[in-house]
Amino acid sequence: MKRVLITRAVFPEIVASLARGFEVEHNAEDTPWPPQELARRLQGKHGALATVMDKFDAAVLDQCPELKVIANIAVGYNNIDVPAATQRGIRVTNTPGVLDDTTADLTWALLMAAARRIAEGDAYVRSGDWKIAFGVQYFLGQDIHHATLGIVGMGRIGQAIARRAAGFDMRVIYHNRSHLPEAEEKRLGATWVERDTLLAEADFVVVMAPYSPATHHLIGAAEIAKMKPTAVLVNSARGGVVDDAALVEALKAKRIAAAGLDVFEGEPRVNPGYLALRNVVMTPHVGSASRATRMRMCSTAAANLTAVLEGREPPNPVN
Ligand code: DGY
Repeated sequence: MKRVLITRAVFPEIVASLARGFEVEHNAEDTPWPPQELARRLQGKHGALATVMDKFDAAVLDQCPELKVIANIAVGYNNIDVPAATQRGIRVTNTPGVLDDTTADLTWALLMAAARRIAEGDAYVRSGDWKIAFGVQYFLGQDIHHATLGIVGMGRIGQAIARRAAGFDMRVIYHNRSHLPEAEEKRLGATWVERDTLLAEADFVVVMAPYSPATHHLIGAAEIAKMKPTAVLVNSARGGVVDDAALVEALKAKRIAAAGLDVFEGEPRVNPGYLALRNVVMTPHVGSASRATRMRMCSTAAANLTAVLEGREPPNPVN
């Protein structure tokens, strides 16, 4: 019987379904294993059902000669050295498609919370400081309706974000390496623009690019300087795509109005500069965290893993 490691706590149904075909070890404590412990647990395993917290670099892969597949429970796979896995004959898979709408929903929640200062207002009401019921200038924020939404990275999730903008009568511009087909642009009501045009014209800049060395600090001090002083920046893609130190400085100096962030460089550590700022709203990497979607991600990853270990082509290969 082939042996499988599940690196974090997942739904019991998933453990049970994999246990029907494989000998399964799973991390019920749900504490991420450091690389040495991960390598130790992978000894003798043929498959790993993993999360973005598990780092599979060449040093870990070298210690796992029997490993045949890493099935990431994520669309992103920057936790895996894919060329190193390919060299060692290890298949890598991900879970594209099943989380697009849920991640787009969360992106909008952050956009709206940052624009309308929801977290700040919530903290104010709870604090007991709210003494005068109404003030003409209390908690003034940014209008969302009829504003310009700029999306950097127009893959499936970017497109799901764009679709939602129609309800707010927004103008949608996007920047991507490749243009969408004309019919698709028409359907989304989205226009391709140069990146600098997007930064200068968007009231809301949403970053939706995967992390790679090429997208490291895609939005840094120079890009933020091109944005409107009233702009809101949203990152629910990956930590490192935005330069957190530069964003902290910009928010502190009010060079832009606000930010909504679900992902951070070096998470779960967060740049301490953010914690003192009221014009940033933060969530702990929960873009795809609805029960239904996380279940679909787990079952998609399990199907990928099963396919490889049964000698079939996985539905979602990365390599
Ligand atoms: C993804 O799917 O990449 C999400 O960030 C969850 O890890």
